[in-house]
Amino acid sequence: MNILLGKCTQADKEGLKALCNAVDRRYLADSIPYPYTDSDAEQWLKMVQETEEKERLFRAIVVDGKIVGSISVEKKADVCRIDGNIGYMLLTDYWSKGIMTQAVGEMSRLAFDILDLRRITALVYEPNIASAKVLEKNGYIKEATIRNAVIKDNHIYTILQYGLLRF
Ligand SMILES: CC(C)(COP(=O)(O)OP(=O)(O)OC[C@H]1O[C@@H](n2cnc3c(N)ncnc32)[C@H](O)[C@@H]1OP(=O)(O)O)[C@@H](O)C(=O)NCCC(=O)NCCS
Repeated sequence: MNILLGKCTQADKEGLKALCNAVDRRYLADSIPYPYTDSDAEQWLKMVQETEEKERLFRAIVVDGKIVGSISVEKKADVCRIDGNIGYMLLTDYWSKGIMTQAVGEMSRLAFDILDLRRITALVYEPNIASAKVLEKNGYIKEATIRNAVIKDNHIYTILQYGLLRF
């Protein structure tokens, strides 16, 4: 599948809003608002523009001109600034076509270069097998099992920590 990782501007507000309102949220953080409003999209895009390529990379995943997903790497602070957290989401209709495997590969390479990272960390809820597979297919190694680490919709989940090193 032909995908594009595109930088976002305020012009992408509607696409971002549609994505965040439709995505499967079972294994996402509660900090992503729902319902996702115009104001949420405007604030997020403003913050992205202020921090892009300094503290984070944020890209829309675009297929045939439509935003179908997003992916970000956020640089950690202080002595952990050589590490970045990667996160991603894709509309359900586009699952299992290899899209996120491709996006994570491209984004990891970009993040190492632009954010000057030595490693990238991914945290996966244990039942999210598709997400773990995406990481493993890109060379991420399972480094830790953090038992009963998060609560989401009244379910307590164990978190798998994955890491990719820059060589
Ligand atoms: C996780 C997610 C990003 C995966 O994206 P995707 O584009 O469908 O992933 P890919 O197609 O590149 O790869 C997924 C792999 O998992 C496999 N898979 C999917 N569901 C599976 C399941 N329930 N059990 C086992 N394997 C599964 C697919 O077959 C594929 O493997 P393959 O290439 O060997 O066939 C997508 O499901 C998503 O956005 N989920 C909601 C948000 C989310 O959970 N984000 C991650 C937070 S850490």
